[in-house]
Parts: sequence; C-alpha cells; structure tokens
Amino acid sequence: MLAREVRLRWRACTLRLLVLCLAFVLCTHFMAELRRKSWPQDDLLPKVPPREPGIFIDGHNRRAEEVPSKRQVIYVRRSSRGGSSGRPAGNSYVPRRDVLKPVRWHIDLQPWAGPSHSLNEEATRFLKYISQPQIICSRLVTNGLTEKTEDSVKPWTVCLDSKFSLAYQIRNKQCRIYSLGLGEDDSIFEVNMASGGCEVHRFDPSIGSAHIHEGERLWHHRLSVDWRDPNPAIATHRLHSNTKKLGAILNEFGHWKIDILKADMESAEWKILENLILEGIVEQIGQLVVEIHLHWPGFEVSGNDSTVVRFWYSLFKELERKDFRLFYTYKDLSKPQMFLKKEAFNASSCYILSWVNTRWS
Ligand SMILES: *[C@@H]1O[C@H](CO)[C@@H](O)[C@H](O)[C@H]1NC(C)=O
Ligand SMILES: *[C@@H]1O[C@H](CO)[C@@H](O)[C@H](O)[C@H]1NC(C)=O
Repeated sequence: MLAREVRLRWRACTLRLLVLCLAFVLCTHFMAELRRKSWPQDDLLPKVPPREPGIFIDGHNRRAEEVPSKRQVIYVRRSSRGGSSGRPAGNSYVPRRDVLKPVRWHIDLQPWAGPSHSLNEEATRFLKYISQPQIICSRLVTNGLTEKTEDSVKPWTVCLDSKFSLAYQIRNKQCRIYSLGLGEDDSIFEVNMASGGCEVHRFDPSIGSAHIHEGERLWHHRLSVDWRDPNPAIATHRLHSNTKKLGAILNEFGHWKIDILKADMESAEWKILENLILEGIVEQIGQLVVEIHLHWPGFEVSGNDSTVVRFWYSLFKELERKDFRLFYTYKDLSKPQMFLKKEAFNASSCYILSWVNTRWS
C-alpha cells in the first residue's frame, strides 16, 4: 500500500518536472525569437529615400509635417539586465566593456619643442604635425558615401581604403557612427552615412525630445558629451542630466565599438579627447574625424601659450602611441586666421583632422 503511494507520488513528481522542463524550453525559445525579431533587420525595414539636407537643417518641426509616418520618438530606458530592450539600434556588438581598465589621471606631456619653451617653437612643431598626413589613404570619402560635394559644407572625411576595416563594415551594414555636435552644424555627413547603411547616432543638446528616430538608421539624442561627470550638486536637481561622458553613453546604450567618431565641439574637443585617452575609450573608436579650434586654448585648458600648444601636441602624440594615424588634414581658410588670439604662424583658427586606428579590426 505504502509502496504504491510512493510510486504514485514519484510518478506525479516526474510528470511535474517534465512539464516544468517543457515550459522552460518553450520560454527560452520564445525569448530568443523575440530578441532576434527586435533587432533591426535591414531587409525588413522600409526603405527611406535620402533626405534633402536643406529641409533637415531647418529643424524637426517642418520635417514632422512632411514625413509624419517616418518619425517616431523612442525613449531609452535602462533595463535591469543591461540588455537591449528599448534601445535604439540593434546590438550587433555584445557589450563587454572592460571594467578593470586602469584609470589614468593625466596624459604624458611631450618634451618641450625647444630649449627656450617659446610659443614659436611649440607652434611650429604643432602646426607641422597637423598639416602632414602620416598614412596614405587610397580612398578618401568626404561627407558620406556620395560623390557630390558642396562648397558650403565642411569636408568631414573618412577613409574607406580596403586595408582598413571600415569599408568592409559598411558593406556589411555593421558600422556605427557617433556624431558629437552643438546644434549649429549641417548634417549632410550624418544623413549620407545613414543612407549608406551605417547606424548613426547624433548627440545634440538642442533637439526637442530625448530621442528622435529620424529615418531608418539615424538617431538623435538630446545629450551632450562632456569630459567629466556632471557636478553632483546639479545632478541631484536634474534627474536626467543631458551631459554625459562618452564612456557613460556607450555603457548605457550597450555599444562596444564606434566605427567613426565625428566631433565638432567648439573648443571642448581638447578636454573630451583627453578624457577619451585617459579612460581608454579611444581604443573603441575606428576613425576619428575632429574639427579642432586654435583661436583660444579651449575649455579648461590652462597655462601660458607655449604650455597650451604643448598640451595639444601631446594629445595627438598619445593618439599616435595608440596607433592612430592622421590620414587627412584640412585647413579652413574661411575662418579667422588666428592662433591663440594672434594673427601668426600663417595658421587658421580651424582645422579638420581625420585619424584611423590602425589596430582596429
Ligand atoms: C610657460 O610656462 C612653462 C611652465 O610653467 C615654463 O616652463 C615656460 O618657460 C613658460 N613659457 C613662456 C614663454 O613663458
Ligand atoms: C600660408 O598658408 C597658405 C594656405 O595654407 C599657403 O598657401 C601659403 O603658402 C602659406 N604661406 C606661407 C608663407 O607659408
């Protein structure tokens, strides 16, 4: 009698276990399916015709009237898993940021250019450096994947030489671009790169809503990239700070790599670049396309003129040490020809420089 009861219990138990197993398997399968479907799949998405840049610049309100169905607002929320739910852009790269990266506190300053520590020596060395490409790129592409050029547009230039992986990434629609700006810039580069197959994230503090999905692969985020964490006093007042370090944004979006980082930060580029070097973020970047500003030292860059120029130069030497090579330099003759508030050294106040990370794969 007892034996029978035990046997029955045992059977019921096994059955329950089986049902549980089955449910688990089904559930896992369902989740996997769901996750796969939530990633953007190029062939499933509707094709959006390339944008007219002029319309785009005018701001999103006009745009909204013209293509209401293509606009949608996405709210990014942190999921508890740190996973991909609700994120803009598919996570074709698995986030695996190395938490134990050594923290550096300052960059290594290069020796002075000469014994007198004069501005003349420093400026000569620096200007020579930024006017000589260090590597030949056999396929320079300006302002996105179109051949057309417009005089009014800045020549944001990337390298699609087949010896670097970017060309391949674009062909496979696996490229991700971050564009840092302060709202005044045109967006021809971004629009063209997005229609060429790249996932483009534009960070611009002046847009209307937190996240805007503009077209198939172009996102706007109301965020501005800073070189330090927001002041805690301010952060407590404002729950959602619009200012973040690039490393924090990468973590939050679950992005590991940026194929191209474009930056036009109106003199904040020096401290941002320093931050990317100190935190090791720069190694996660394939190509750097930056407008640099020389008419004054830049935000929070201090010291006499020769110290400032030595700091600028040292930043670029840090990039070089990380195997970044300058492949494109452009002197903007349309801007004031000023160097640290002086008309000197035949320099412009504005240059566009492009580097390729030769370690990138
Ligand atoms: C600028 O400051 C540095 C360090 O403080 C000093 O070594 C250098 O001689 C100064 N240069 C000039 C031109 O005053
Ligand atoms: C000054 O710069 C312009 C433009 O880069 C160049 O064409 C010119 O030769 C330079 N002049 C001198 C004296 O170096």
